[in-house]
Amino acid sequence: MKPFRRILTGKKILLGVCGGIAAYKIPGLLRRLIKEGAGVRVILTEGAEAFITPLTFEALCREKVFCQCDFLNPPPGCIPHTELGAFAEAILVAPATASFLASLASGDARSLLVATILASRAPVLLFPAMNTKMWEHPAVKENVKKIASWGYKVFTPEEGALACGEWGPGRLPEEEIILAHLEKTLALQDFSNCKVLITAGPTREPLDAVRFLSNRSSGRMGVALAEAAWKRGAEVILVHGPLSSSPLPLIRRIPVETAAQMAEAVLSLLPKVDILLMAAAVADYRPQDTWSGKLKKTSPSLTISLERTPDILKEVSSRRKPGQVIVGFAAEEEEFLPQEARRKLKEKGLDLIVANPIDRPETGFESATNEVFLFFADGRKIHLPLAPKEVIAWQILDAIKELQK
Ligand SMILES: Cc1cc2nc3c(=O)[nH]c(=O)nc-3n(C[C@H](O)[C@H](O)[C@H](O)COP(=O)(O)O)c2cc1C
Repeated sequence: MKPFRRILTGKKILLGVCGGIAAYKIPGLLRRLIKEGAGVRVILTEGAEAFITPLTFEALCREKVFCQCDFLNPPPGCIPHTELGAFAEAILVAPATASFLASLASGDARSLLVATILASRAPVLLFPAMNTKMWEHPAVKENVKKIASWGYKVFTPEEGALACGEWGPGRLPEEEIILAHLEKTLALQDFSNCKVLITAGPTREPLDAVRFLSNRSSGRMGVALAEAAWKRGAEVILVHGPLSSSPLPLIRRIPVETAAQMAEAVLSLLPKVDILLMAAAVADYRPQDTWSGKLKKTSPSLTISLERTPDILKEVSSRRKPGQVIVGFAAEEEEFLPQEARRKLKEKGLDLIVANPIDRPETGFESATNEVFLFFADGRKIHLPLAPKEVIAWQILDAIKELQK
């Protein structure tokens, strides 16, 4: 198994900041990039300097921050636009103003930021942010269209309350979204052309109008798998029960509540997917009878009969198409883990089962970390030691990639 390396660790990122009101958010983004281990150089446009000082960025990245005045009056021996253009493995501009988009669209290299982009062949990600009427103006639309036609990624601003007091598209996306797009741009797209269906979270089996049977699953493992697959280029669909951590809004989601609803969603999508990862903790039993209102506290004891829920994995394996990869998950007490995992692997005809012990606080349900054992249909077994669920997700996808070879 390859050692895990975070996507942005050691990557050289050029961060361009323009003169929009959202410039005040960018030091936060810079901190996140540095925390991820990226090497970041910063260019502020002339407009940006009116909103935020180079000193703030310099203090955070401990590197000289380049401003417009450095372009034609550079430090001795330095040609900023070519050196920064060659340095960058990715160029990220946030916020990208209307005026910057116009200069770039016309190839006007009077600004250091535009000249640097022209002098680079790194992927370029632009995050425009501006007043809605500006964003919707044909001049801006034309410029965006032209820039996008060169292969630069121009991300549509988010809709919401704007600094100018209006409401509409124009907001800079949250840091999390900007980072996710950057990670996707820099990650190996080894799951492109691959449709991946992932289930996550618990199911809820209703007893009456306000009560249900469920389990402690947080859905984090499934969400981590969905985000990792998305970053690696897959087309992802996440079918999930109630989650305690929200996935990136960039991921297509189908929320469900009961095991029966999850079964229906999975089985209807199954014919179209290449890989199915069943990370949800689906209830095995549901109350046989349900009450339409709230069950009253009238008798001293109450017996509830339970019946089996649909066995989704079994149904899936009976309908699978040749070439589909089906991965199951098992949460078991450590003592029974290998035999239970192998039994499920065989009985349900899976390619791989990911088994994790539930009797340790740092693994399994509700925890941010996990330790798992991968049991393959061909008899192999791999141990993935304790790590954040994001890391485990990445390693599970590595194992699936091997299976597809
Ligand atoms: C208070 C204020 C807020 C502004 N916010 C934005 C903005 O969010 N987006 C934008 O495109 N322009 C905005 N502008 C206009 C730009 O600052 C202006 O076009 C400037 O020339 C951009 O400079 P630059 O392209 O060098 O970064 C704003 C101007 C002011 C005075």
